[in-house]
Amino acid sequence: MEKLVVTGGTPLKGDVTISGAKNAAVAIIPATLLVNGVCTIENLPNISDVKLYVDILKSLGAKVKWINLHEVTIDTREITSHEAPLEITSKFRASYYLIGALLGRLKKAKVGSPGGCNLGQRPIDQHIKGFEALGANITVANGNITAEADKLVGTNIYMDVVSVGATINVMLASVLAEGTTIIDNAAKEPHIVDVANFLNTMGADIRGAGTDVIKINGVQELKGNATYSVVPDQIEAGTFMMAAVASRGDITIRNCITKHLESITAKVIEIGGHVVSNGDHLRVWCTDRPHKANIKTLPYPGFPTDLQPQMGVVLSTADGISYITESIWESRFQYTAELNKMGAKITPSGKQAVFEGVEKLQGAPVYATDLRAGAALIIAGIVADGVTEIYNINHIDRGYENIEEKFKKLGAKIERIEE
Ligand code: EPZ
Repeated sequence: MEKLVVTGGTPLKGDVTISGAKNAAVAIIPATLLVNGVCTIENLPNISDVKLYVDILKSLGAKVKWINLHEVTIDTREITSHEAPLEITSKFRASYYLIGALLGRLKKAKVGSPGGCNLGQRPIDQHIKGFEALGANITVANGNITAEADKLVGTNIYMDVVSVGATINVMLASVLAEGTTIIDNAAKEPHIVDVANFLNTMGADIRGAGTDVIKINGVQELKGNATYSVVPDQIEAGTFMMAAVASRGDITIRNCITKHLESITAKVIEIGGHVVSNGDHLRVWCTDRPHKANIKTLPYPGFPTDLQPQMGVVLSTADGISYITESIWESRFQYTAELNKMGAKITPSGKQAVFEGVEKLQGAPVYATDLRAGAALIIAGIVADGVTEIYNINHIDRGYENIEEKFKKLGAKIERIEE
């Protein structure tokens, strides 16, 4: 068991370089199953979810060679299995992409139910609706999702909710289908565009990714022998933006796509922080106590739910009363109980939480309840007086590369300690 020990009180200063996007990487790795060849993926984040996914591909017959910590070559010419057991798939959410990818490639998949952060109900009915519309039979039984089809045929699919996972999964299943698939009310997150770009590089014909209508013209096969670089992580960049503001620091965030950070930049400026964007980097600083603000999480290009807890830390020490409305996940305020142990005054109630800003947080032992909650607690530890011990940090390691080293380089006093 490891914990992070943070001694607070240092404004963050300096440069940080953003890694490849976790949520793009965990879709692109299974997407390689659709390729009948070898492809090289660069700029992969060195995180446990990525390593786990690469191991799953190996177990399905793919030949994998790590070039370095961030680059892998995957040869998917011989896929020998269509099954991924529950004990592996339950370790993370993105295992659901195996259904779309294996169905697309082999016309059959038997995949254990996905796990991932506990954020409340996480249904996959829209994924299933999409696969069925393409002609697959889906059975959900004994913790497994089984998908089978004689052939997949393109059709029009209207998503009842805007879903990142369902949009990507249906895209994966339809790339090799006969005819044209149209996904209406599609999600528009940067990682949707990244997965489509990867597939197009391999010979797919996907148009409109990044808008709410995606058109996929089925092709006979995808060919490899190409190299693709994963997009920078919008959420990691946003996490450091929040850390800069919360600590009254001044940092430059390198290797990010500033366009992906517009909703976050707007909020930072609204609460009194400063942001200067410059191509692939961004300087963020804040000299005074942040002002109160109201936030509502929304699908992209709205304020991301995956930055809600980090923004919650900023608002917990803001001047005045702020309100956050969480409109994506029903249980994403679990971190507020941990922040309250540190002296915050947050009252969650259903989809909304009220943040009565306090002057200072105090260090305390706290538990990361999920990935982004863990990142938020690190920021809280950095701004608090005294020492904060963060437990359950395996959640954080699933999605952030080298997080304590990156914060240390910015001047934070943070250590990983084996218990
Ligand atoms: C993805 O989860 C991300 N995970 C999440 O990031 C992120 O919070 C979420 O998108 C929203 O941006 C990955 O990419 C691996 P959704 P996903 O399908 O795909 C409802 C993180 O911290 N819904 O977009 O599971 C659902 O209940 C993680 O990195 C249905 O009703 O999310 C939710 O309210 C946490 N039926 C909303 O849609 C469905 O079939 C959006 O979910 C699917 C979703």
